[in-house]
Amino acid sequence: MNSNKQLYILIFFLLVYKINSCLYSNPNDQTQKFDLSTLKLDSSAYYKAHFPISSYSKYDSNFFFNFCNGTITKCDSNLQMKSCQFFTETALLIPNNDAGNIAEGESYNFTNNGLTIEYRGKTFSPTASSDCSTAIEPNRRVTHYNIVCNKSIDTINVINDVTEDSRCSYQINIQSKLVCRSCPINCTELLHAVGCNEVTWKCLCDTQTFGDYCNQSRIYISSVDSTTTDGGTTFINGYFGNTTSERLSITIGSLQCNDIIVYNSSTINCKIDKGEGIKQVILTDRDLKCTGSFQYIKIQQPCPNDCFSFIKNGICNQNTGVCNCNQNYTGLDCGTKIQTDVPISIPSINDTTGTTTITNENSFYQIGIYSLVELNFNGSIVKEYILYEKWNKTSTSNNAKDNTTYFTQTIPSVNCTIEYSIEEVTIMKNYSFAGMNFILLPSSVKLKISIKDFLFSSTLNTLQLRIKSTFNQTMVKNDCNSNKLNFDTNDLTNNNNLNFITISKDSKTLYARFINKAISDGRVTTISNSMVGQDKDSIYVGLNLPHCVEHCEIDPDFGVLVDSKFKSSCDDNANSKPKWFLPVVIAGPIVGFSIILIVGAVLYKKYYISLKVLKVKLEEINK
Ligand SMILES: *[C@@H]1O[C@H](CO)[C@@H](O)[C@H](O)[C@H]1NC(C)=O
Ligand SMILES: *[C@@H]1O[C@H](CO)[C@@H](O)[C@H](O)[C@H]1NC(C)=O
Ligand SMILES: *[C@@H]1O[C@H](CO)[C@@H](O)[C@H](O)[C@H]1NC(C)=O
Ligand SMILES: *[C@@H]1O[C@H](CO)[C@@H](O)[C@H](O)[C@H]1NC(C)=O
Ligand SMILES: *[C@@H]1O[C@H](CO)[C@@H](O)[C@H](O)[C@H]1NC(C)=O
Ligand SMILES: *[C@@H]1O[C@H](CO)[C@@H](O)[C@H](O)[C@H]1NC(C)=O
Ligand SMILES: *[C@@H]1O[C@H](CO)[C@@H](O)[C@H](O)[C@H]1NC(C)=O
Ligand SMILES: *[C@@H]1O[C@H](CO)[C@@H](O)[C@H](O)[C@H]1NC(C)=O
Ligand SMILES: *[C@@H]1O[C@H](CO)[C@@H](O)[C@H](O)[C@H]1NC(C)=O
Ligand SMILES: *[C@@H]1O[C@H](CO)[C@@H](O)[C@H](O)[C@H]1NC(C)=O
Ligand SMILES: *[C@@H]1O[C@H](CO)[C@@H](O)[C@H](O)[C@H]1NC(C)=O
Ligand SMILES: *[C@@H]1O[C@H](CO)[C@@H](O)[C@H](O)[C@H]1NC(C)=O
Repeated sequence: MNSNKQLYILIFFLLVYKINSCLYSNPNDQTQKFDLSTLKLDSSAYYKAHFPISSYSKYDSNFFFNFCNGTITKCDSNLQMKSCQFFTETALLIPNNDAGNIAEGESYNFTNNGLTIEYRGKTFSPTASSDCSTAIEPNRRVTHYNIVCNKSIDTINVINDVTEDSRCSYQINIQSKLVCRSCPINCTELLHAVGCNEVTWKCLCDTQTFGDYCNQSRIYISSVDSTTTDGGTTFINGYFGNTTSERLSITIGSLQCNDIIVYNSSTINCKIDKGEGIKQVILTDRDLKCTGSFQYIKIQQPCPNDCFSFIKNGICNQNTGVCNCNQNYTGLDCGTKIQTDVPISIPSINDTTGTTTITNENSFYQIGIYSLVELNFNGSIVKEYILYEKWNKTSTSNNAKDNTTYFTQTIPSVNCTIEYSIEEVTIMKNYSFAGMNFILLPSSVKLKISIKDFLFSSTLNTLQLRIKSTFNQTMVKNDCNSNKLNFDTNDLTNNNNLNFITISKDSKTLYARFINKAISDGRVTTISNSMVGQDKDSIYVGLNLPHCVEHCEIDPDFGVLVDSKFKSSCDDNANSKPKWFLPVVIAGPIVGFSIILIVGAVLYKKYYISLKVLKVKLEEINK
């Protein structure tokens, strides 16, 4: 009878032991289970943590504890306490010093790098020497065993003295390899993982990637230096991580860029064969790719229409491709005789919207920064941020040296700040951007746009800044200059340093000069321009910027001209009607992107220059 009872008890305990096999499993993550059964000590043994005299405690004592529902005889065999406080190793000095016991249950939480087990003692009536009445749970002791992973500790190591963080609440810090996890993903199977991070329990990625699977790329190109059309060594800047030339393949257009040298994680160079124009650069490192833009520079920059130098209107600077006109001529090609009898244009900046309007008699040309677009690898829109008429004016400078208005705008969702300035040019002046010098004409407007700290959603993405140009006019009766509104954007895709669009109406033309260079993270790089939209009276041009992480700077320069068909008076007789009209829109090597607006100060005289071929009909000139 008695032995039967003992057998049942034994079976019962075996069952209990089997069920409570000392596994701590994370309810939030099935992959995490800690088996602490090897830590369980016989009830006569215990682990010990020192609890020194502190502001809460005037006794030097020890905490005794065990694991896995293990009892400690010494604590109090009747109560089966698991955790208790001893003042000496031989005797309890005061009652109610049980820090926690089975009857109150054990609870635990998984932490980043281990496990916290909490034992709560029984409540008791406080005595003068043992007062827990101001504890978080009044008259109860709570002990936290904070166990963290340390691969070199096979069992446990108590790493410092017990602390009482608030009244009767104790912290015991322990290291053990038994609470070391492994990453849920087998990191050795991932191409870009270099191990398992034992704090976050995610794979440690190499320098080129991030993400749970180390498959999101960090590499990007921010700028690519130009070579001449003869080819040569080009430097590619950006971020490439820890790479080697053997692993890299770089193509520029259809050509392979050879003899790759990796200087460091942000600079690579390679040798490219001769070619012409603007090319896409694709850098491939194993499974990772990034892109940029490259330009072959013509060794001698041709000037537009050779500045009409054969009739001494001006001379060409072949280093820059910019005309120097003699005093009686103006325009980019010196093809425009300075006249006084054409309507004057007046630029004005709207301080509240940040748009510029050039007014010339009854015609209005409006230029504004429309939006900033994040594009993906394929050139499709990830997101468009509308900037139009949302600018905040920050300051103006009005002095003899310059008249500039400064605007700013932020896009909080991508942590981006855009600064934008508009300079009204009243007298002809020299200007330089990205190491190139050029001339700004009177009545022109110079923009400068700086995009900072844009947070890309992927390193494969790039930016496009969109500019809107609008024409409108008030009705005028019997306008002898009347002419259909016409947009010309064919020039945008050429391979020159400058691209043009024109809006012509009534013998007046707004031309916009887009320079295919930007400064990306401090370096000059090539950009391309494209026409992105057109409606009844507006066109939208996109400037395709690189993946610039810190700072992208573009330096625009546009222009408006009144053509030679313009008549100041409709009573002119037929003979005095100018024969040739023509918006002069010619390429020249100006770096930056700028808008020059010159309406009214100039008049095209006798020269017929086709927009695209830029051909001078000599026989007409000779008439
Ligand atoms: C400790 O005992 C309690 C009550 O029997 C049980 O619920 C718990 O799972 C046990 N803990 C461990 C780690 O075995
Ligand atoms: C576990 O976390 C919960 C919620 O934060 C908290 O209430 C509880 O006291 C914690 N338990 C332990 C043992 O730390
Ligand atoms: C892990 O334990 C070893 C041996 O005690 C010790 O030298 C090391 O500092 C511990 N590591 C940490 C992170 O505490
Ligand atoms: C992880 O993958 C490697 C290579 O496939 C294999 O040798 C290793 O056993 C795997 N480890 C685990 C824990 O599955
Ligand atoms: C990364 O790998 C995971 C799992 O294979 C996949 O679901 C995810 O789409 C991958 N992400 C990228 C950017 O390739
Ligand atoms: C770079 O990679 C090489 C092997 O490809 C490795 O030996 C080296 O330690 C790595 N350096 C850094 C800074 O990650
Ligand atoms: C400019 O025009 C004026 C008047 O027509 C003329 O006297 C002068 O010589 C011209 N200057 C040049 C450099 O051609
Ligand atoms: C600026 O533009 C706003 C909106 O188009 C307009 O209401 C305001 O009158 C303009 N201000 C000036 C000075 O033109
Ligand atoms: C700036 O504007 C003032 C008056 O509006 C003018 O006197 C001055 O010459 C201008 N400065 C420049 C550099 O255009
Ligand atoms: C402009 O400034 C106002 C107040 O200073 C601010 O609330 C607003 O967000 C700013 N707008 C933009 C587009 O930055
Ligand atoms: C956000 O922009 C500020 C400066 O404008 C920069 O210091 C910070 O690093 C940026 N934050 C992120 C997450 O890129
Ligand atoms: C044209 O633009 C000007 C200046 O922005 C504005 O005052 C005028 O009302 C506009 N006219 C038409 C017909 O839209």
